[in-house]
Amino acid sequence: MSKTKLQFVHHPHPSPVPADKRAELLKNPGFGRVFSDHMVTIRYHESKGWYDARIEPRAPIPMDPAAAVLHYAQEIFEGLKAYKTKDGGATMFRPTENARRFQKSADRLAMPSLPEELFVEACDLLVKTDRAWIPDGDGASLYIRPFMFANEIFLGVKPSSDYLFIVIASSVGSYFKTDAPAVSLWVSQEFTRAAPGGTGAAKCGGNYASSLLAQAEATRHGCDQVVFLDAVEQKWVEELGGMNIFFVFDDGSMVTPPLGGTILPGITRSSLLTLAKDKGIKVREDRYSIDQWRTDARSGRLREAFACGTAAVVTPIGTVRSKDGEFKIGNGGPGTQTEDLKSALVGIQRGHTADKYGWIHKVF
Ligand code: PLP
Ligand code: COI
Repeated sequence: MSKTKLQFVHHPHPSPVPADKRAELLKNPGFGRVFSDHMVTIRYHESKGWYDARIEPRAPIPMDPAAAVLHYAQEIFEGLKAYKTKDGGATMFRPTENARRFQKSADRLAMPSLPEELFVEACDLLVKTDRAWIPDGDGASLYIRPFMFANEIFLGVKPSSDYLFIVIASSVGSYFKTDAPAVSLWVSQEFTRAAPGGTGAAKCGGNYASSLLAQAEATRHGCDQVVFLDAVEQKWVEELGGMNIFFVFDDGSMVTPPLGGTILPGITRSSLLTLAKDKGIKVREDRYSIDQWRTDARSGRLREAFACGTAAVVTPIGTVRSKDGEFKIGNGGPGTQTEDLKSALVGIQRGHTADKYGWIHKVF
């Protein structure tokens, strides 16, 4: 059964940001504050499915104060990056994986499934239209933020009948403001991120809302990010507020916490697992406790640890702090295996090394 393909209506921006102003903004964009000229929107209603696909000027969205998302947080999002290529084109890294995760998140939040091709087409269209916003330089990219929310005007608690899917783009540099060679983590022992049966594996706004107090506590203790333990035993390291985590031991082997419903299945994590295995590194998806972490860091058995994600790429972890004190990892700076894996990943993402995995999606 073939349905007619949804056609995007194009409304080009009548007054896009002038080139000189854009160039100024792209010099040092930071993360998530500089936005491109356009956005993609697609609507959904349970009676007609996906409809009214557009690319139009990025602008505030009128919302009824009774829109369901404002009350019950039925919202999901994704994050992926577009890169400039040497030949003047643009690529994205594994966008179909984001499309699939978006479908899984939608399923968990009782939302409709956006077809994979439509998700990728929407991202492609925005990148093509706003290509001038892809910054140059190491570590810079156009961060694509697809998201969807419940738009039914109704205060009853039930899955919405109406949704709005939007894609916006933000020119970004490094996620972390710090110039330090490695980030510091605060171990949250009071707050957890996700419980078994909850929404930990979904990329929904609510997970991030509930992480903010723990993140604020991390900041108060001088740390860059919060690391969460499991909700049942308060013992097993799970992930950071917005990144997965890997541990590197003195024999070169690595461990990352297993996916089991409480951790976001990171696309960077999965790519690094593949790259590590192909390099002959022994890598296990296994539970690792905070006590073992402390013991191994102190004995030197643990040599390196790093965070990974689209925004963070691969970021070395130097210090871990909690109410029980602090420990350093290795010499507190980047380790060689972390750097090696990072350059293997970034090399593929930026087209400097051959992509034998078929991870690179050419936009144009
Ligand atoms: N874990 C959390 C909670 C995240 O928000 C992210 C970022 O998207 C990740 C892990 C890493 O996922 P990915 O590598 O797909 O960006
Ligand atoms: C990403 O890496 O894409 C995320 O969504 C994480 C967030 C902390 C920016």
